[in-house]
Amino acid sequence: MSEARVVSPKARVEERPQEVSLRPRTLKTFIGQHKVKDNLSILLEAARARGEALDHVLLYGPPGLGKTTLAHIIAHEMDVKITVTSGPAIERAGDLAAIITNLGERDILFLDEVHRLGRAVEERLYPAMEDYALDIVIGKGPSAKTIHLPLPHITVVGATTRIALLTAPLRDRFGVVYRLDFYDEEAMKRIVQRSAGLLGVEIGGRGIEEVAKRARGTPRVANRLLKRVRDYAEVRADGVITRDVACDALSMLEVDALGLDDIDRRVIEAIIVKFGGGPVGLDTIAACISEEADTIMDVYEPYLLQLGFIDRTPRGRVATKLAYGHLGIPYDKEPPQARLL
Ligand SMILES: Nc1ncnc2c1ncn2[C@@H]1O[C@H](COP(=O)(O)OP(=O)(O)OP(=O)(O)O)[C@@H](O)[C@H]1O
Ligand SMILES: [Mg+2]
Repeated sequence: MSEARVVSPKARVEERPQEVSLRPRTLKTFIGQHKVKDNLSILLEAARARGEALDHVLLYGPPGLGKTTLAHIIAHEMDVKITVTSGPAIERAGDLAAIITNLGERDILFLDEVHRLGRAVEERLYPAMEDYALDIVIGKGPSAKTIHLPLPHITVVGATTRIALLTAPLRDRFGVVYRLDFYDEEAMKRIVQRSAGLLGVEIGGRGIEEVAKRARGTPRVANRLLKRVRDYAEVRADGVITRDVACDALSMLEVDALGLDDIDRRVIEAIIVKFGGGPVGLDTIAACISEEADTIMDVYEPYLLQLGFIDRTPRGRVATKLAYGHLGIPYDKEPPQARLL
């Protein structure tokens, strides 16, 4: 259900070819995320200067912020091959061994959804990352032999939206860990402008601003909104995206001024109306709006937290005064400090 939302940060299958074409290929053209970019550029330069494989890199953060994009950029900047796979795709430890033995020195193995690696596969990965070797047991019983198989010095780039689900030993094997954050409005505007240029869309400065503001700090959402607004502009206007055209198109898509849609509003409304503002457990909210708790945690909650509309407390989620204001519901609660006194 959430996949169908125009503001969903998750990729749709049919969007993949276009995603690839809109992806920045170099670190220089990657907009925003300055902290990550600065650190990464030093890491890359040092590894290149030494002629060594890059340290293993873990990228985490909400969907659609550029983890996969950065993995490809790393390969491009290191001028090495990248092999893409994902946690759930590697079924047996042997499959992992087969993938790695096919890689060359300094190549990148991109492991998407790295928190979903099977246990046996994960354990096989440890020595491959640490010692660049695999220990393979051949035969059974007393005649079994262990063969120590040296592997190329590769770089594992892992990506996850759920770092908390990573086991400690796996996390420890990544020399560097970068967190991607939602983009600020300035970066979002540059992303919309860049994508519009690549797609050949005519859009004015105010139109860019409107799309950027409603894209939830997420480049994937920005690109999707841009395409939908372009459709609207072609059918209802003369193809040019002005501020008015953008506003009309986005309100027809039911994306409000902050980029919230119907489901976000239902999440907040459930907390406020059904549970008196919270605290209420995620599972209860999920049951209430017929969504999966995991989806809420991955897809809706990060942006609502970022906006400061909900808070996480040990006893569950609470709606903040800002959220009441956004829905136009009067806020009649005493501040929590006052209640304590
Ligand atoms: N910094 C950026 N500048 C410009 N465009 C970007 C940037 N980051 C991401 N994008 C665009 O957003 C789209 C989604 O990015 P990407 O696929 O890398 O996200 P992701 O973090 O891997 O998401 P997921 O968690 O769903 O795998 C890309 O197609 C790319 O066009
Ligand atoms: Mg990705």
